[in-house]
Amino acid sequence: MLVGLMGVGKSTVARLLGSRLQRVVIDTDAVVEERAGRSVRELFEQEGEATFRSLETAALRDALASPTPSVIAAAGGVVLSAENRALLRDADARVVWLCADTATLVERVRGGAHRPLLDGDPAGTLQRMAETRAPLYREVADAIVLVDHRSATEVVEAVLR
Ligand code: S3P
Repeated sequence: MLVGLMGVGKSTVARLLGSRLQRVVIDTDAVVEERAGRSVRELFEQEGEATFRSLETAALRDALASPTPSVIAAAGGVVLSAENRALLRDADARVVWLCADTATLVERVRGGAHRPLLDGDPAGTLQRMAETRAPLYREVADAIVLVDHRSATEVVEAVLR
């Protein structure tokens, strides 16, 4: 299970881990979009963030309960709710926090269409999110992997170590 801020590379690393470990990859944003029949952006705009967050909790819960061996890429905001953090702490899954400097994240989030929260001021928002969410990621993480100046393949190796 990978957690971390937007742009840190969770989806890419999950895909590589999935093929390396021969496991199914579950991306909570993709599950939410499929179930809602709408994009993350449309959900935020048409239903509001609260509705998105409750769909996200359901997607997280189901992903963690999946009997199929999997690699889960959790969307950046899953740690915001205490309910989700309890699910992550209690899950029979290794939770790895992918962590990066804000500068690295800003570089990588360009063109993130499913990230309405970054529309205005991506650098400022990511900086604030890094500050408020770091303790939350730390609370649920079994391991922390720093991704700055590392390729996705190198991050995969570090996750597996
Ligand atoms: C969010 C992260 C996004 C997406 C939504 C909100 C967040 O997922 O769920 O834009 O609050 O951190 P990624 O972390 O996959 O970009």
